[in-house]
Amino acid sequence: MSWFRKPSSTPLWRDEFPVFTADERYVNRRQFTKFLTLTSFGMLAGNLWILARSAFHRAPTYPRIAVAAAGEIAVGGVKTFAYPTAGDPCILVRTGSDSFAAYSQKCTHLSCAVYYDQTQNRLECPCHQGFFSIADGSVLQGPPRRALPRVSLERKDGQLIAVGVEGEGS
Ligand code: FES
Repeated sequence: MSWFRKPSSTPLWRDEFPVFTADERYVNRRQFTKFLTLTSFGMLAGNLWILARSAFHRAPTYPRIAVAAAGEIAVGGVKTFAYPTAGDPCILVRTGSDSFAAYSQKCTHLSCAVYYDQTQNRLECPCHQGFFSIADGSVLQGPPRRALPRVSLERKDGQLIAVGVEGEGS
């Protein structure tokens, strides 16, 4: 056996990888069926995953925490509290004699603490002048793209009770 290749007009790569361009473009029925089958299985697996996820997904449960007595804050006054955990600062504003609004105090831009400006009747973030509506927490101005998460309140026996958070993670 010789270690040297016999001189030939065919390049070495063609001998070792006998690929023909015409064959590469040709997709036969078996290959096409294989492609369709694999794609169908992929889509089936994706749909089953979505179905399983929606079946096991539970809405978050929030604690019921009394955050203030209704008469404790003057109209236009503010009280801060933490909800739903001690690491979630929130702000409660008495917007009228019988109306209150509570929001997460973390700005949705870069998490600076927002405060209530009574003269402008809005929540303001001092870091980059992001302003939020006191009515619904929506962005009025500035770099934030998302509204402030709103804390749902209930009133019971003269107490304001936080019962949930709307718009969290949206
Ligand atoms: S952190 Fe509030 S506007 Fe930037």
